[in-house]
Amino acid sequence: MTVACLPVVTLDGPAGVGKTTLARRMAESLGIAYLDTGAMFRCLALKLGAGADTWDEERLRTACAAHAFSLEGRGAGTRICCNDVPVRGEIRTEEVGMLAAKLGQVPLVREILCEAQRGLAARQPLVVEGRDMGTVVFPTARFKFFLDASPEVRALRRLRDLEARGQAADLTELTEQIRKRDAMDRNRPIAPLRAAPDAVTVDTSHLDIEGVLGILLHTVSVHGGMAAFSRRGD
Ligand code: DC
Repeated sequence: MTVACLPVVTLDGPAGVGKTTLARRMAESLGIAYLDTGAMFRCLALKLGAGADTWDEERLRTACAAHAFSLEGRGAGTRICCNDVPVRGEIRTEEVGMLAAKLGQVPLVREILCEAQRGLAARQPLVVEGRDMGTVVFPTARFKFFLDASPEVRALRRLRDLEARGQAADLTELTEQIRKRDAMDRNRPIAPLRAAPDAVTVDTSHLDIEGVLGILLHTVSVHGGMAAFSRRGD
């Protein structure tokens, strides 16, 4: 666990491990906002469209510059906005996830979004979730966690999520998509998905959300808890 530092909790891990739900729940418990960085990649991927990962630098820089991200609210009510409009559920499909993973392999896009993520954290304490939060974007974060689970467990969770939203899906296909996305996220040369050396790794395979949340909050609490977020000023 790192000493000093930025009032930020990082949650990194592969697709479908429960990062967004955990970030939201943790932010609610800590009374701070959360940042879903996957939503930033997804939103850009959706707005720029398929093939944007092959554009030349100038075109990509101009397109990215036209999309500014901000946060509204805090706790479970945190909203990520693009050009002041809350990002909507249309980004949450596996297709957009694949486009986002492709865009996430482009160094310029990572550089631009890294700057935007640091800018948001400079304004307020945050729980941030993504792939490279603890390793690249916030190396001096006060608390770092790496969440993991097998592709099969994550695919099953995703299936249940989709079913709960009334959407049909196939478990074999979901497992395959998750494996593909893992390969892209873990093997890219820049900011690959991996645990920071000073992150606490939690294998969530045999835990439900409450179980994982309990571990995360307990770890924060025994290492100084809210005192780490005293910059909040309220
Ligand atoms: O967390 P998610 O499934 O919403 O992320 C979608 C894709 O975005 C993911 O497969 C890779 C990319 N991504 C990234 O490269 N870096 C991040 N910090 C977050 C997401």
